[in-house]
Order: sequence, then C-alpha cells, then structure tokens
Amino acid sequence: MRAAHKITVPDTWGLPQASFDVERIRNDFPILKQQVHGKPLVYLDMAQNSNVHRGVHFLSEKATQAYEDARDTVRQFLNAADTHEIIFVRGTTEAINLVAQSYGRTFLTASDEIVISAMEHHSNIGPWQILCEQIGARLRIIPFNYDGELLLDEYEKLLNERTKFVAVVHVSNALGTINPIKQIIEMAHRRGIPVLVDGAQAVPHMRVDVQDLDCDFYAFSGHKLFGPTGIGVLYGKADLLEAMPPYQGGGDMISAVTFEKTHYNTLPYKFEAGTPDIAGVIGLGVAIDYLSEIGLDAITAYEHELLAYATDALSTIKGVRIIGTAREKAGVLSFVLDGIHAHDIGTILDHEGIAIRAGHHCAMPVMQRFGVPATARASLAFYNTKEEVDALIRAIHKVIEVFG
Ligand SMILES: Cc1ncc(COP(=O)(O)O)c(C=O)c1O
Repeated sequence: MRAAHKITVPDTWGLPQASFDVERIRNDFPILKQQVHGKPLVYLDMAQNSNVHRGVHFLSEKATQAYEDARDTVRQFLNAADTHEIIFVRGTTEAINLVAQSYGRTFLTASDEIVISAMEHHSNIGPWQILCEQIGARLRIIPFNYDGELLLDEYEKLLNERTKFVAVVHVSNALGTINPIKQIIEMAHRRGIPVLVDGAQAVPHMRVDVQDLDCDFYAFSGHKLFGPTGIGVLYGKADLLEAMPPYQGGGDMISAVTFEKTHYNTLPYKFEAGTPDIAGVIGLGVAIDYLSEIGLDAITAYEHELLAYATDALSTIKGVRIIGTAREKAGVLSFVLDGIHAHDIGTILDHEGIAIRAGHHCAMPVMQRFGVPATARASLAFYNTKEEVDALIRAIHKVIEVFG
C-alpha cells in the first residue's frame, strides 16, 4: 500500500526562522494595490509576467495593446504600408543578421553575389561574410571617392546576373555621408535585386519613407533615436517576409506545435520568438512620438545649419583634416589632427567636459581607405547649440597646445 502523500517543508537545520512579513513585501509591488474591473487585483500570473499576446487578463491585454500601439507608431514613422511589416528585434545588427540568415540562406546559392559598400558599419559587413562562408557566395564592394561619396558608376558595373542582394548604409556613421539611397535602390530593382538599407544613422536626422524609397528591408536601432538600448526594428516588404522562414524558434512565433510539425505564426510574430523586450518597444514608441512632436523636417534643417557652422569653424584650424566631405552630409564631423592620435584628442576633450568618440567607429575599412587608424568624431543632434560647437573648437585649440 502506498503511503499517504505528505507535504514536506525545507529543513531549517534547527535555526530560528525569520518571520516572513508578506504585507511589508507587498508594499514593494505598488501594482498589487490597484483595482481591476472594480475589484482588488489578485495577481496570480508571475510565471508569465503579463506577457504580450498570451494572457486573457486585464494587465496582459494592457501590455499587448501598448506593445502593438508602438508597432503602429513605428509603421507611421517609416510610412510602411502595414504594421505586420514591422518586426521588433534587438537592433540594427540583429535585423541585418535576420535577413542574411533567413532570406540569404533560403534564396542565395554558391554562384551568387552580394553587394555592399566600402563605408558600411561592421554590422552590415559581418552578417554577409558569415553568409558567404556558409553558402559559398561572393561579397562585392562599392568603392567611394576621397570625399566619402559612393561611386555609382562602379556600383553599376558590379551589378550583374549573379547579384542577388544589395545592402547599403543610408547615412555613414564614420563619415556622415547621406547616400543617394533611392537611386541605389532603383538601380538594383531594374535588375530585380532586393535591397536592404541600414538606416541606423538616418532615422534620427531625417524623415524616412520606406514606400517612397521602395526599399525591401530597412533596419534601425532604438538607442540612436533617443530610445532604449537593446531594441530595434526591421521593416520588410510583406511578400518577402512571408516567403522567408523564421530566424529563431520559440514561443509566440508558432500557431501550433506537435513533435511532427510546427506551424508558424503569421507576420510579424513569425519573427518575434520568445518574450520580446516589451518595455523597450514601448519606450521606442515614446521616443518616436517625442521626435515627431519636434518634427523631423525642423530637426533636419536645424542640424544642417549646425553642421555647416561646425564644419566652417573646424576647417579654419591649422592641422585639422576633416574625414568625410561629401556634399550631402548629416550630423557627423570626423576629423584627424596632424601628429596627434584620436584617442589623445578624445582624452583632452573629455577633461574639458566634451564627449566625442575616438576610434574606428566599427568601420575599419573606412579608416583603411583614408589611411588613418582612427578619427575623432563629433556627432551632432538637435539638442546641440552653436555655443557648444564653439566650446569644441576652443578645446581642439587646447589639444594642439598640449600636443602640438
Ligand atoms: C550605420 C550603423 N549601422 C549599424 C549600427 C549598429 O547598430 P546596433 O549596434 O544598435 O545594432 C550602427 C551603430 O553605431 C551604425 O552607426
């Protein structure tokens, strides 16, 4: 006969047990004091933590609503045709990896070529190199001139019947160049080649309309848009996303699972496996609302004037060489000083309270093209002022005094 089931409690080893003051602990969770449908909330869903798309209770539905509202905010921000073309990912890097692995491994083969540019951030180089190693495809590179402008006639020559994908940055983080992305897309589309645009540095500075650009994929990160880190967006045309297999498996991306077969969920959930960064998504939506309130066109105009002012001021300093002098630029002033390492510039500026970036900016091929190991880079936003540019110029004079 089986013994009656007995609940055992953990052995306390004879030590006196601390009293457990649940009422005091409940004060640490103010949400427990709220009413739901006129009744005190009894929260018994700690296993899911009000996850989106899964719960039937009030808080879970509230989270789902806020999450999906943010998706529509992003859709409007990019002027995408439909919310299901907006996929939440960790950032630009993950968006590009998703396309390289899902689209690339499905539709490209060993005889194919992928075209990127020589001014890509490493996040738009690495994923394609990994893909090329996996499938044996070849990476081709669009060169740029000494001002940092892509050579479109060279690009034209690279496009051929083997070219199956183009991935190009909209605005270069190292040079500030605004690429003629619409023309780049048109040139590829004339041959039926899909195009991914790395928009990480474009979205904070200018209005982006994915339908007008007619890009096939557009990637950006929340944290460059004054939103949280660890959240980003992949826009993709619905027909392409529909045709692509999931990038990761897990919860939320399935509609039915047996051990024989898993049926994938519809867009966009097919590409959002696991619990998403719900707080990050909602934060991104708030950041976009904030930008939209100021107005992207007003931001572009203000920053343009500030960049022109800063460029003029910097050009007057003897020994300064500006890296990136394209006619169309946004928000970035990369420069080197004769005989002074970029890190030394960064350190002196830091002591003056001025934060710039010194390094290769995750764009080593750009540094190689200009024959420098690193640059000092001031990147401007709409909150900067001419007085702050003046402070930068004064501090650069100080750097020259110290090291010159
Ligand atoms: C042009 C460009 N692309 C991609 C990235 C990568 O973005 P993340 O690290 O948010 O994925 C950056 C980041 O600096 C960037 O400037």
